[in-house]
Amino acid sequence: MHLGTFETALADTIAGPRAPTEIPAVSCDPAFRADVLTGLSQPRKTVPARWFYDLEGSRLFEEITHLPEYYPTRTETALLKTSAGQVATLLGTAPMIVEFGSGSSIKTRILLDAMPGATYVPVEICGEFLIEASQALAHDYPGIAIIPVEANFMNPIDLPDRRDPGPVLGFFPGSTIGNLVPSAAIDLLRTMRQSLGFGSLLLIGIDAVKPVDRLLAAYDDARGVTARFNLNLLHRINRELDGTIPVGAFRHRAHWNPASTRIEMHLEAMRDVAFDVAGERFRMAERETIHTENCHKYDPGQMRLLLQSAGWGELRHWTDDAGDFSLILAEATPDPFGP
Ligand code: AVJ
Repeated sequence: MHLGTFETALADTIAGPRAPTEIPAVSCDPAFRADVLTGLSQPRKTVPARWFYDLEGSRLFEEITHLPEYYPTRTETALLKTSAGQVATLLGTAPMIVEFGSGSSIKTRILLDAMPGATYVPVEICGEFLIEASQALAHDYPGIAIIPVEANFMNPIDLPDRRDPGPVLGFFPGSTIGNLVPSAAIDLLRTMRQSLGFGSLLLIGIDAVKPVDRLLAAYDDARGVTARFNLNLLHRINRELDGTIPVGAFRHRAHWNPASTRIEMHLEAMRDVAFDVAGERFRMAERETIHTENCHKYDPGQMRLLLQSAGWGELRHWTDDAGDFSLILAEATPDPFGP
């Protein structure tokens, strides 16, 4: 299997288990370099959250999903189990499932169990993790065609050709949409609508607003896994971009921004620091931060409006008894004529 390393690329269809593909452990994506240099040059330093996900970061995120404080994964998994049959009733058992930010593809298994004739297109920014996950899936689901795409899902994707174009299901679980500020979230949902086409469906998971203490615990866990996940970004910069960041001088910070109804993650300098990245010099004062992630939370009406604003009409809305998390099935509606 060949994956284009630095650009959107459609890989070969995976037909079954294969030997692991050799990919250099230290890559240096020019987009990573550009984003880090631009982000660290801003008056308020920032690095986009997508760069958390090198192989180590992807593994640490997997560990987060198993933490007792991190309610989203188990809540959404339960919702998927109760809804997969209804999704299959609407789509049939052989849709093309396009997953944006597929990671380990563990939740996908619930959909594949209900739709055993599916073609599966995982879109994932971390090529190494994508290969691992696709091989594991191919081993357990030999009847499913898997077409892995190593790409940043913010870009439009070309759907692979199929002999008989059947129904298309976009799958965007985990409240990854919450990483984007609302205007960017709407842009992304519109791009997805373009990529997937009219009449396609989107199954999306969105995290709900809830008491701040529970949110803070989920993003600052007792075992420090989220802290390691956040700090790994600095290690990655040092590894891949010739960085000299003194990682030990930084700490993980998570706080609630009430005006934007979001959790923010930052890396805070505990003393004045100076370091190099890709030959450029940066300085930070004690207590200055690098803003690494936003996790927006929505109430159910806002979720509906967000989707609607991007041309997605809500068909079904599942939530748990506590209303902690929502799983929504929406349909790509044509642009309306008239009022
Ligand atoms: C993968 C973006 C959904 O926002 O909850 C978990 C990432 N960051 N803990 C989230 C994350 C810190 C996660 N998403």
